[in-house]
Order: sequence, then structure tokens, then C-alpha cells
Amino acid sequence: MAKFVVLLLNYCPIFVVFFPFSGGCSFGFAYQALKDCWEVACSSPKRPRIVVPAGTYLVHPIVLSGPCKSKITFSIYGTIVAPQDPDAWRGLNRRRWLYFSKINHLSVDGGGTINGMGEQWWANSCKTNKTNALTFHRCKDLKVTDLRVVDGQQMHMTMTNCVRVSLSQIAVMAPASSPNTDGIHISSSRGINVMNTTIGTGDDCISIVGHSSRINIKDIACGPGHGISIGSLGKSNSTASVKSVSVDGAFLSNTQNGLRIKTWQGGSGEASDINFQNVLMENVSNPIIINQFYCDSKIPCANQVWNDTFQAAIIQMLKSLYHPSLPGLNYVCCPELRPRE
Ligand SMILES: *[C@@H]1O[C@H](CO)[C@@H](O)[C@H](O)[C@H]1NC(C)=O
Ligand SMILES: *[C@@H]1O[C@H](CO)[C@@H](O)[C@H](O)[C@H]1NC(C)=O
Ligand SMILES: *[C@@H]1O[C@H](CO)[C@@H](O)[C@H](O)[C@H]1NC(C)=O
Ligand SMILES: *[C@@H]1O[C@H](CO)[C@@H](O)[C@H](O)[C@H]1NC(C)=O
Ligand SMILES: *[C@@H]1O[C@H](CO)[C@@H](O)[C@H](O)[C@H]1NC(C)=O
Repeated sequence: MAKFVVLLLNYCPIFVVFFPFSGGCSFGFAYQALKDCWEVACSSPKRPRIVVPAGTYLVHPIVLSGPCKSKITFSIYGTIVAPQDPDAWRGLNRRRWLYFSKINHLSVDGGGTINGMGEQWWANSCKTNKTNALTFHRCKDLKVTDLRVVDGQQMHMTMTNCVRVSLSQIAVMAPASSPNTDGIHISSSRGINVMNTTIGTGDDCISIVGHSSRINIKDIACGPGHGISIGSLGKSNSTASVKSVSVDGAFLSNTQNGLRIKTWQGGSGEASDINFQNVLMENVSNPIIINQFYCDSKIPCANQVWNDTFQAAIIQMLKSLYHPSLPGLNYVCCPELRPRE
């Protein structure tokens, strides 16, 4: 059995553990500690583990990039908190807090917490740039398990341009009133599995946008929030496709929407091979929405054709409990613009 050796020198808030033993430690603020540990870990061929021990660590906006020499495990036992004041992003990219880029075979675990301290951001207009809490960009073979992400400034966990991701035993929580705080956001990514996860925020529990495929969502609880959403797709006449999405086993409660697909007029592409099954809803205002007329801009959208190969979702074994006005399927489109069956 491999034994991990911990190197603790004086005050060392975040450290790297190697097997067999090798050095690596940092001092000072958690930002620098994390940065230094990352440098050490990323350039080591010895499968390092970065450990954030119990305790609370303030981490300023940080980019941790690869490619790295070997597989890295990032174990968070404590709590990583963001600066409360959006001014801490002055001069930095306002869309990033914890930003992981171009890393293959990263595992995140430990049962700890990531806290975006989003309150001051929520008070700002939703149209100003806001940072996402945790972003994985161009990741390959990412595994995140046993993690809490709370009070994100905006989206909690974002995957962009990723392939092969497994997320399990994750809890995402923010107040129902916090704006644009999607739980898990998937964009331009393939092969994403989300399992055994609980999400309750002020926006979509899971949102899937363009150029994504093979998304499997299994055994999740969602609510409060806006449900599970595909889209919006095709904004500004763009082409976008989302293919092969399966939601099997979901309990949605006290959400605004249940399962939603939304496309902009004028866009093109497809939303195909969508499977929703074993979904139980309780107090969901709009259980199923397919909106091909989506328009979220100040200027009213012109009535245009969605140049699509839109395929109907297969929805089975769906049960909706109690809602005073149960509207059931809410299909929004213009009579002259019927999707292909
Ligand atoms: C918001 O982000 C866009 C592009 O990402 C940038 O052009 C713009 O200057 C940013 N605005 C503010 C207020 O930071
Ligand atoms: C699901 O997650 C909970 C806690 O997050 C854990 O206790 C349980 O073992 C997990 N179940 C499975 C089947 O992984
Ligand atoms: C989309 O295309 C239509 C028709 O070609 C055009 O009128 C409209 O201005 C375009 N919209 C955008 C946002 O480019
Ligand atoms: C139903 O859900 C809404 C939020 O969509 C919430 O405000 C309300 O309290 C819920 N009702 C019950 C009875 O739980
Ligand atoms: C729809 O897309 C096809 C193929 O991309 C293109 O040839 C056609 O002109 C488009 N039609 C409209 C109405 O935009």
C-alpha cells in the first residue's frame, strides 16, 4: 500500500504530498501557497496530491494550468473562500475565480467546501460581468467527487471545452434569490457524467449549451432553481448543437421549470437524442418547456426561422406531483414555424 508522506514546515497552509516522499511546501497567503503548490505538483512526475487541510483559506482569483507531468489529485478537506468584494478582481479577468485550464487527469475530492461569497455580486446587475466560481476549461479526464460548492458569485461549476468528466457526490447550494447562479454549466464539452448530486440555487440546476454531446445525468436532486435546461441555442444567428443527453433519475422540487429546451430564432443546429426518464417533480411551475422562440434581449427578436434539425425529446416515466396550475407541456413556437417531428 502506498503511504502518503506529509511535509509540514512551520506554517504551511496548503501542501503537496508525494509518494514516494519528495518536497514541496509554501508559506504565506493561501493564494500564493496554492500557486506554489500547483507549480511543484504540476511539474512532478510522481502523481502528487495537493492537500487543503481543515480550516478556512481565502484565495484570490487564480488560474491553475497544465499540461502537467502526471495525474494530480486535489484534496480539499477545508473551505476555500473567495474575496467578498468584487473589487478584488480589479485589473483581472472578471469572469474567473478558481480557473483550471488545460489539465488532464485531474481528480478533486476531500469533502471540503468552495464558497464563492457571492452576496455582493448578486446585488450587481445581471448584465455586468460576473465571475464564475469554479471553471474547468479544456480539461480531459476530470473527476470531481465529494465536494460542496456554495454561494457562487454566478455559475458554480462550469465545464468549457472538456472531454470525459465525471462529477459525483457534489452539493451545490445558493439562495433561490441569487441571480444567474447556475449549478453546473456545460458548454462545448463531450462525455460528461453527473451522478448522485444535489443542486439548489437561484438559476438552472444544470444547463447545457452549444456543441455538447454525450451528457449523462443520473440520480440528482434539483431545487430550488430553474430546473434542467438545454440551451439557449443559436443566439445571434449562430449554429449550435446539443446531442445525446440523458437524464435518468431526477427529483425536482420547488423549481420554476422542470425540463427545458430553448432555442433562439434565426439560429441553426440541433437538439437531438434527448432522453428524460424517471423524473419526479414536486411543485414545479413549468414541468416541461420546449421554447423555440426564446428571446432574452432588450430589443425584441424578429420573427425568424430556426433553421433546424430539431428532434423531439423522448420523455418517459415522468411524474409530476402537486402544483396548483399544472400546465404540463408548455410548447412555445410560432404556428408557421413548426419543428420537424
Ligand atoms: C465584460 O467582458 C467583456 C468580454 O468578456 C469585455 O469586453 C468588457 O470590457 C467587460 N466589461 C466589464 C465592465 O468588465
Ligand atoms: C451519494 O452521495 C452521498 C453523499 O453525498 C453518499 O453518502 C452516498 O454514498 C452516495 N451514493 C452513491 C451510490 O454513490
Ligand atoms: C440574423 O439574420 C437575420 C436575417 O438574415 C437578420 O435580419 C438579423 O439582423 C440577424 N441577427 C443578428 C443578431 O445577426
Ligand atoms: C413551490 O415552489 C416555489 C418556488 O418555485 C416556492 O416559492 C413555494 O414556497 C413552493 N411551495 C411549496 C408548498 O413548497
Ligand atoms: C438552412 O441551412 C442550410 C444548410 O446549412 C442552408 O443551405 C440554408 O440556406 C439555410 N436556410 C435558411 C432559411 O437560413
